[in-house]
Amino acid sequence: MNNYQYINAWVDDGIARIELNRPNVLNALSRSMIAEIIDSLTHFDTSDDVKVIVLSGAGRSFAAGADIKEMAEDDPISLEKLNQFADWDRISNIKKPILAAVQGFALGGGFELVLSADIVFAADQTKFGFPEVNLGVMPSAGGTVKLSKTIGYRKALEWLWTGERMGAAEACELGLINKVTPPELLMEEILTFAGKLKEQPPLSLRLVKDTVNKALDLSVYEAMQYERKNFYLLFASEDQKEGMSAFMEKRLPNYTGK
Ligand code: CAA
Repeated sequence: MNNYQYINAWVDDGIARIELNRPNVLNALSRSMIAEIIDSLTHFDTSDDVKVIVLSGAGRSFAAGADIKEMAEDDPISLEKLNQFADWDRISNIKKPILAAVQGFALGGGFELVLSADIVFAADQTKFGFPEVNLGVMPSAGGTVKLSKTIGYRKALEWLWTGERMGAAEACELGLINKVTPPELLMEEILTFAGKLKEQPPLSLRLVKDTVNKALDLSVYEAMQYERKNFYLLFASEDQKEGMSAFMEKRLPNYTGK
């Protein structure tokens, strides 16, 4: 599956790969590239042969942000009519696990794309940051929201106001990413993790993701009610019967995603 101009997209044994592919501009996220990323995510989300999606960047960078050259002449009305963030909103509707393997730079919109992923591994020299303030603007694809919800008000303002870059180790300590790896092991480690998820019951993964996302928005009481309903729902699945039978029969489960 690769009718795309700005990304490479393919499936390898249950794992879908989306590789940003404008290495000459450090994978700056042009609008067409974002549209292709969303199109491929949406396609993989409904493909039965895909269990997990892995995002990565070709060349020396994951993504150095939105394409500055493309947006330099924008005005509020052109932006309103373009409605480009409707595309970004669609990422939060993807139900399957999205993993990101990050190296080089993840700045601005590139960092926002990272924060849209569910699990993130980064090479140890990776730099993350929101440099928008240095361009006279600010993040616009959820950066302020996700950063402040993850690391808290004051830490978030510090990074957003200064536009400074944080290293992978600090991003990991702050809970923004899951793991730091040597660069040469980045893809191997993320694919190993993807391989583990691939063996898990897909409906459980899906409803866990859905429930954790709700937990970030709802009150504790509402989130717990929501959790319960999803727990009940899983008892309608064949995989619940299989998982519990396998336990009782002392054998490995064979999940089908049904
Ligand atoms: N948009 C467009 N082009 C970009 C780009 C971007 N965000 N980032 C890098 N490039 C281009 C450069 O212009 C350069 O192209 P040319 O060879 O044609 O000049 C090429 O990529 C390589 O970049 P550098 O020569 O600058 O590489 P470097 O290693 O010296 O520096 C960098 C790397 C520090 C990441 C630097 O490129 C940089 O500061 N980039 C901009 C980062 C930025 O401000 N990102 C935020 C964008 S705004 C945003 O994302 C808004 C949002 O929330 C939606």
